[in-house]
Amino acid sequence: MDKKLILQHNIIEIIMSDDLFGCFGSDSDNDDDGDDGAVASIDVDANVKDMKSSQSQSQSQSQSQSQSQSSQVVAREESCGVLSFHKNTEQSLLVNVRNNMNSAGATSLLPCEGVLQEIDKYCFRKHWMMHIGPEKKRMIQDTLLNTIQKKMENHTRSPNKNKFICVELGTYCGYSSICLAQASASLNLDELNLDLDFHLFTVEINPEFAKVAREMIQLAQVEDIVTVLDNDLFMDGSTGDVGALIRDAIASKYGGDVGDEDADTFMGIDFLMIDHDKDSYLPDLQRLERSGLIRRGTCVVADNVLFARIDEYVNYMKELGEMGEGIVTTVTKEASVEYSGKMQGAGQGQDDVDLDVFKDGVGKSRYCMFHQFYLARV
Ligand SMILES: C[S@@+](CC[C@H](N)C(=O)[O-])C[C@H]1O[C@@H](n2cnc3c(N)ncnc32)[C@H](O)[C@@H]1O
Repeated sequence: MDKKLILQHNIIEIIMSDDLFGCFGSDSDNDDDGDDGAVASIDVDANVKDMKSSQSQSQSQSQSQSQSQSSQVVAREESCGVLSFHKNTEQSLLVNVRNNMNSAGATSLLPCEGVLQEIDKYCFRKHWMMHIGPEKKRMIQDTLLNTIQKKMENHTRSPNKNKFICVELGTYCGYSSICLAQASASLNLDELNLDLDFHLFTVEINPEFAKVAREMIQLAQVEDIVTVLDNDLFMDGSTGDVGALIRDAIASKYGGDVGDEDADTFMGIDFLMIDHDKDSYLPDLQRLERSGLIRRGTCVVADNVLFARIDEYVNYMKELGEMGEGIVTTVTKEASVEYSGKMQGAGQGQDDVDLDVFKDGVGKSRYCMFHQFYLARV
């Protein structure tokens, strides 16, 4: 097998000349990875629990199925372990998820959870992939729900109070987009007396991945609240301006002037998830700052900050934290690299990995001040 190791934009790609996975058919086993832990520790907990209790009935059924089927669990081949990349894995994953979601014995979980669990199973058993995975899923869902709650509490006068704009850089196959949509959909709006208008704009540079993500998002039935945007990649390797891309997308969805910086009416980004090209974290964040979309209250979550050593971005956030009374507050939550540990509940499918080597972290930052204060310097 012809393997080539390429270091590009800090992402390791191992390209193999033949497609190992074109032959993957449907994975019809129905077991559950049991990673469904508590989603939020905030007031909306009760509503999340409501949803979870209806899910947990169907999950306990599939869990008992999983126990009886555990002998069928197949571990990943060594060549498909952590940080291995093969051509067409994304298409193979999509076929797998599509078949399992549409099969007669399809999971009885709600569509989002069904799709996420199918993806997790594939990644633990067949091929490692770079979705955030179940451990970081819980972290970003908690953070999103906290941010929604804070906005609802703090912006009582704003006419746009009910709008919650979420942006993601790096869609890949749509896994983290579905996690974010799932968390927002878990809120029981009637019970909370909320009129939340949540929308996620997620940006992908690879049109093939964007296509996979659009279908995955449809299978999860969240296409009404998630828009996949294509970022341009130019011949010289440069990319489109994400600031302009997001402003146009928000304006075309909601109309009006996005950038009216009157704090009461301004429609900026409430929650930003950065998980794309590691060298572009800081430049793209600064593009969004310059375009006026980052504002007081914006929460920014950045994946892989420890594992991929995204020091420029980390140092910038640290600097903002030290300016004045602190423009940004940041905490880094440790986690392991996606799909590098055991698949909970399955008992097999794990890698024999050194978890110290695969230690990762998610940076969570919150802008505490109106952005004009620091904009002059970016
Ligand atoms: C680590 S993956 C994202 C995983 C995804 N967030 C998830 O957890 O499901 C990184 C993705 O960013 C995309 N990407 C790289 N550079 C980009 C850019 N400048 N703009 C948008 N997407 C980019 C890659 O094509 C790849 O699909």
